Amino acid sequence: MSPPPTDVMEAVVNLCKRRGFVFPSAEIYGGFRSTYDYGPLGVLMLRNVKDAWWRSMVQLRDDVVGLDAAILSHPKVWEASGHLATFADPLVDCRHCKERWRADHIEGACPGCGSTDLTDARPFNLMFKTYVGPVEDEANVAYLRPETAQGMFVNFMNVLQTSRKRPPFGIAQQGKSFRNEITPGNFVFRTREFEQMELEYFVPPADGPRWFEYWCAERFRWYTELGIPEDQLRLRPHEPEELSHYSTGTSDVEFLFPWGWGELEGVANRTDFDLKAHATTSGERLEYFDQASGERYVPHVIEPAAGATRSMMAFLIAAFDTDEVGGEPRTVLRLHPRLAPYKVAVLPLSKKDTLTPLARQVLAQLQPHFLCEYDETQSIGRRYRRQDEIGTPCCVTVDFDTLEDKAVTVRDRDSTEQVRVPIESLVDELGGRLRL
Ligand code: GAP
Repeated sequence: MSPPPTDVMEAVVNLCKRRGFVFPSAEIYGGFRSTYDYGPLGVLMLRNVKDAWWRSMVQLRDDVVGLDAAILSHPKVWEASGHLATFADPLVDCRHCKERWRADHIEGACPGCGSTDLTDARPFNLMFKTYVGPVEDEANVAYLRPETAQGMFVNFMNVLQTSRKRPPFGIAQQGKSFRNEITPGNFVFRTREFEQMELEYFVPPADGPRWFEYWCAERFRWYTELGIPEDQLRLRPHEPEELSHYSTGTSDVEFLFPWGWGELEGVANRTDFDLKAHATTSGERLEYFDQASGERYVPHVIEPAAGATRSMMAFLIAAFDTDEVGGEPRTVLRLHPRLAPYKVAVLPLSKKDTLTPLARQVLAQLQPHFLCEYDETQSIGRRYRRQDEIGTPCCVTVDFDTLEDKAVTVRDRDSTEQVRVPIESLVDELGGRLRL
């Protein structure tokens, strides 16, 4: 039976710290304002989330190419995009305890001290501003990007000309974005430094609505394919007053977090807003010329914009489970094999010298194919539990019979079933099970 939701959140945060997924940043100095560091397992899992996205958005398609644009960005980019003028949250101060809050996140009273003596809301721009070079003046201002999207728009002509794509086609990008959030929180759900995975998909203007529907369905499917149950996901269309300044329609893919529904990804119809804005501000032509029809137009853009760090957290929560094995309670992360930090753990039954060389041989045979962990300390039962807890789909045990029969035991994380497999067919057997 699964634990109640509030306990799940606490248990997942605990597990992340204890097993090396996510650490509070600069913990030896008391942590640093809702920033987090990704540990040995977290770095593997986050990479797997991003690779699964890249596989689906770039590798399995022939109409999407990649980009990795600079994080430090020209102020003109954010002037044109509208972020300098409008990328702001309403901020209120509590006159009693001096804390600051997002006005739309509180209900008339300070969540810190309960006082209702609050200032009027005023806009607070969320972009991190810095200076490029040694002189800190207005001429040297730069911004850390608050979204990866603008890199795709300002490089539209570069990509169009070098990739020889034509609409409908997309540019995909993953990477860090920065927002000076007023109230970060809920672990890595809302942080000031986070990773995004965004696609800008350029289409002939008349086809915008059709592609919007396509990407909503496609992105919903991606989360379910990677193991989030459908009843913990929903597509929620934005109300007109919720829409961003650039969007004529947005639907969020939402996950049922332990505290309620929360956004994983926004799919927006950005129309020709961004290309036109950058064309006006830069004086460059940002258009597509269709040689066959002689038609020239500014493509419309459908944007599925996801959070990598936020999705990783949702995958962890959805995978978290507890059950009983052999009368003992166990914690198990039922992660999709593609997302699991390690795919295989190689476990010699005992630390005896007789088993180690063969176990290391098996490890070396598997390493070119799968990310493996090798663990030879503690009882085999405890080592299985450790692997279950970090979501390793398969354990391979090398025992004394292996010396004779050249076979190993493969144990399945979810069913705990064990089968004997000849070493020579181990790569194929694991490949078939993992379906990476
Ligand atoms: N280019 C459009 C855009 O950036 P967004 O809805 O503001 O849209 C897209 O961001 C996704 O980025 C969100 O759905 C969320 O997953 C992630 N994200 C946004 N702000 C975040 C934050 N402060 N912390 C973690 N993830 C965040």
